Amino acid sequence: MELIKAKDYQDMSKKAAQFIIEKVKANPKAVLGLATGGTPVQTYANIVEEHQKNDTTYQGVTSFNLDEYIGLPVEDPNSYHYYMNKHLFSHIDIPDTQVFLPNGLAADLTEECSAYEDLIKQHGGIDLQLLGLGHNGHIGFNEPGTPFEQRTHVVDLAESTIKANARFFDKLEEVPRQAITAGIRTIMDSKEMLLIVSGEQKREALQHLLHGEVTTDFPASILQQHPHVTVIATEDAL
Ligand code: F6R
Repeated sequence: MELIKAKDYQDMSKKAAQFIIEKVKANPKAVLGLATGGTPVQTYANIVEEHQKNDTTYQGVTSFNLDEYIGLPVEDPNSYHYYMNKHLFSHIDIPDTQVFLPNGLAADLTEECSAYEDLIKQHGGIDLQLLGLGHNGHIGFNEPGTPFEQRTHVVDLAESTIKANARFFDKLEEVPRQAITAGIRTIMDSKEMLLIVSGEQKREALQHLLHGEVTTDFPASILQQHPHVTVIATEDAL
């Protein structure tokens, strides 16, 4: 794992955006794996700003998001579809037909999971997967206890994740209890990963990720076994 230290959230976001932009410039047909949550917001804003300034094109890029809540329509401001349109897709030139998120409204959710997995394969797999880090070590919505071999699946969110994500909703009760997430195996199949971590509240999780035991009790620890992971972390998270 390569560790890049960032001064603060702004610096982390600048470095992460540069990292992604360089990959897209080097491979204009890159398949990106994308994350939502609080951490990547400024990274996406920087990508948008750079696109507007330098015309870096995303016309050949395909993206697959890690996860989506079950039961929220695309136009719900708390759906990850909505988040991605708001923060990234509607501001860059990536074609709508090349952005994919799991469909949390699918009639057959099991079928949706295997179709999503197939779609990633059909596109040749993920070239660069962007990841955030959950306080409990989750990546995507792979909560502690998730088998490392699992692919895209339906999850019951951990109580701690529901509480952590409640900040985006009006009330705790409004946070969906389930999501579809790319599995740990899906994530580990990515050719390269970029994990971004910011804030003192992530310090314990980051220490485990970097130096702790590899265990399903802390899903992100499996990244220690991937050959090509870059972590960009702020000083306070370190
Ligand atoms: C989001 C995702 C999650 C987040 C994690 C950290 O698509 O997959 O694993 O990356 O919950 O969230 P934040 O960045 O809000 O601390």
